Amino acid sequence: MQVRNALRTGLGVRAAAAMRALNDRHPWSHNDAFHSWIASRLPAGRDDALDVGCGRGELVALLGAHFAAAHGIDVDHDMRQASAARCAGLPNVTVDSTPLERVSSGKDLVTMVAVLHHLDLVPALREVDRILKPGGRFLCVGLARPASAADQLWDLASMLTNPVIGFVKHPWVAQPTSADPPFPVKDPGYTLDQIRRAVHQTMPGAVIRRRLGFRHTIEWTKPASA
Ligand SMILES: C[S@@+](CC[C@H](N)C(=O)[O-])C[C@H]1O[C@@H](n2cnc3c(N)ncnc32)[C@H](O)[C@@H]1O
Repeated sequence: MQVRNALRTGLGVRAAAAMRALNDRHPWSHNDAFHSWIASRLPAGRDDALDVGCGRGELVALLGAHFAAAHGIDVDHDMRQASAARCAGLPNVTVDSTPLERVSSGKDLVTMVAVLHHLDLVPALREVDRILKPGGRFLCVGLARPASAADQLWDLASMLTNPVIGFVKHPWVAQPTSADPPFPVKDPGYTLDQIRRAVHQTMPGAVIRRRLGFRHTIEWTKPASA
């Protein structure tokens, strides 16, 4: 956590405050920014999609436009309410509190954006494998705890590019408005190396990539013969 820790001490505190002020003026969602990545990788089968930890429902609403049925699950009551309001006019989109381990199998797509670090890593990956039909796809945008030198460098790159991306995505100065409920958040416990090992164990052939915005992505298509 060295780069992140540096922003919590001495000069780093002032640098972090200046960066936060800049980011507040030109904000962007590090999660929603990956919706186009997901939309460009949808599987051929488009019957049934599941968004785990659907939050305020932006992604499950988008999935509703591409799948016969899109279902969001979230443990948080305020998030479910926000999702239900967001998807009110979308008859093929449903949201509830079904635990991951009770979701029925046969899905074409499972998505998780900024959620996997809230779950028990290996059991959650096994559930995704169970839930997907053969040929189905897992698309995940994750957060990891920085540990190695490479992690620190990517953190630094994310920090430096963050305001630039903000200017590009949101060139005008934002007014403080949001009435949205805040997301339940959690610091990531697993490093990217640990996540890689767990993913390769449970989802052979999965592709894991580092991304800017303090994120990584996981893409896996369940073998058709499984
Ligand atoms: C950081 S938010 C991300 C929300 C949304 N995916 C997005 O990209 O905006 C994490 C979400 O995961 C949900 N969550 C945490 N643990 C969960 C679990 N065991 N099952 C389902 N959702 C969970 C939280 O309630 C929260 O809405």
